[in-house]
Amino acid sequence: MDKGFKEYLDQFVEFTSQYNKEIYYANQGRDDIQSPVEPEIGRFLAFLIKSTGARKVLELGTGVGNSTIWLAEAVKEIGGNVTTVDNHPRTWKEACGNIEKSGLKDYVVMIHSDVDEATRKLKEEGAVFDIIFQDCGKYTYTVIYEDVAALVRKGGIIVADDTMFPVCQGVRPNLGRHMDRYNRLVFADQRFFSTMLPVGHGLTLSWKK
Ligand SMILES: C[S@@+](CC[C@H](N)C(=O)[O-])C[C@H]1O[C@@H](n2cnc3c(N)ncnc32)[C@H](O)[C@@H]1O
Repeated sequence: MDKGFKEYLDQFVEFTSQYNKEIYYANQGRDDIQSPVEPEIGRFLAFLIKSTGARKVLELGTGVGNSTIWLAEAVKEIGGNVTTVDNHPRTWKEACGNIEKSGLKDYVVMIHSDVDEATRKLKEEGAVFDIIFQDCGKYTYTVIYEDVAALVRKGGIIVADDTMFPVCQGVRPNLGRHMDRYNRLVFADQRFFSTMLPVGHGLTLSWKK
């Protein structure tokens, strides 16, 4: 993103609490974790939850809990909850600790599992979600696509992160290819109406008709 653009944006797109600010800065620049979402993405997710009244949110890819806290803070206001899934052994412990510290534990259902297994089980249980935030391993987006498509209710939204990887500098080409495949799949899917926003590394939003 253009530097001036980002600086201008940062004046307005503030953190919504001490918790998401602390966790974001505490994990900045770490090279042993995959990047937590930028504040503009966190705030966009909170905006989407508040404006649509989403109560049931599914997050794929908890990381250390940065985006989970943005989501949980927003659903807390309207009495919903966030189910979040990640399979990492080490960062999972960090995520549990961060969510505990944030005081938002009662609004988060944590599933320590591979996403393919978790989404299959949720589908078997008949779970449905208003918003699904897909930020898991990039190869998973197309692999679990049908389960994710089934788990979002009609009128609900899938928000997929990093979908402009194919044109982001410094991103490994195979990650770009995964994202390109995902975009082609979802934009061609007549069950959804999709669009793409150049925020962060790109968001693809898909509304289920
Ligand atoms: C980009 S990070 C998530 C960042 C987080 N959403 C945030 O913004 O704070 C992606 C996460 O997906 C998890 N992941 C990757 N492949 C997975 C899989 N097959 N099943 C479950 N989790 C997976 C990784 O362990 C990692 O924590």
